[in-house]
Amino acid sequence: MNISKFVTPEIIFGCGALSQLGESAARLGASRVFVVSDAGVIAAGWIEPALDYLHSAGLATEVFAELTTNPKDYEVVAGVKQYLAAGCDAIVAVGGGSPTDVAKAIALLATNGGRLQDYEGINKIGRPLPPMVIAPTTAGAGSEVSQFAIIVDAERQLKMSIISKSLVPDIAIVDPELLRTKDSRLAAATGMDALTHAVESFVSLAATPLTEMHALKAIELIARSLHRAVVDRNDVEANTDMAMASMIAGIAFSNAILGATHAMTHQVDGLIDQHHGETNAAILPHVMAYNLPACPEKFCRIAQALGVVVSGMSSETAAKMAITSISELIEVIGLDRGLTEIGLRPEDIPQLSRNAVKDACLVTNPRSASVVDIENLFRQAL
Ligand SMILES: [Fe+2]
Repeated sequence: MNISKFVTPEIIFGCGALSQLGESAARLGASRVFVVSDAGVIAAGWIEPALDYLHSAGLATEVFAELTTNPKDYEVVAGVKQYLAAGCDAIVAVGGGSPTDVAKAIALLATNGGRLQDYEGINKIGRPLPPMVIAPTTAGAGSEVSQFAIIVDAERQLKMSIISKSLVPDIAIVDPELLRTKDSRLAAATGMDALTHAVESFVSLAATPLTEMHALKAIELIARSLHRAVVDRNDVEANTDMAMASMIAGIAFSNAILGATHAMTHQVDGLIDQHHGETNAAILPHVMAYNLPACPEKFCRIAQALGVVVSGMSSETAAKMAITSISELIEVIGLDRGLTEIGLRPEDIPQLSRNAVKDACLVTNPRSASVVDIENLFRQAL
């Protein structure tokens, strides 16, 4: 039997969609909502309207924003304490991937108990989570639609992947207006994260027609609009494309999982507090070159989605153009830095490589990779 499953939350999409926040939480049965955000989102001014919408729907709120980029397990533990002390019964996240993943992890521990480490890996959650509504303020992580929560284990200095259908939020409110306040650098980094999700899920061993169509469309939208969104943060059309791309790339990778790039970036991000999208930009082209022999025809389709005119090219040239085209995009948005510049030292590579081969994302990479293969890829990306 060859069975595949496909999960998504209810999705409310469009400029002004944040106004649906209160009504959305209320109809899930919320009465006291735990609102997870971060300092940047609060400074950008998005928490007040979010709280207004929740209060207008008759809901009480408790705000938690004590978290960092690449959120840590001990930050989640502090959030769980506050959630339980305040007697909350639902979770809302207003923010990028970090607040969203923390919101999911708090929902998990508040209802299932134990430590986050108990749930690392796939399908280890036994009890239902409280209702969750997510409103992303960045276009990249796709966590608003995914069954992933990625949290740093501070002691082991690596990112844990917790993957379960229980982590799929109930409602994703995707309002492109909310993207306006992030700066160009963050727009570039988050956009590269979305592109990496789309490429890795498209070539994943667990890809299905349902995930492939979302991944390819995301690649097409990112090729059309990422550079524009980086240059002009008020370009509504580009922001709308990127919000859609990030979300559908999230749907694709949530259901098809990822690959070697993420297995590697999860280790780097646990060691160095650098934006995950920037680490992806340094590693993705090298992993694509490694994976190409396993699925050249898929690389041709990626090239086409990127806007490369492949007619007249040999299939080998067309497949390679997928990598060339993505490398050019990385350069044009200003993320063409190697891992050395990001802060990685060659002596870190052996340990990172040993951890990367244990990461759940490597299982679906289209070409198997040993510790030595991963070490070579890290060296190429320096
Ligand atoms: Fe990612």
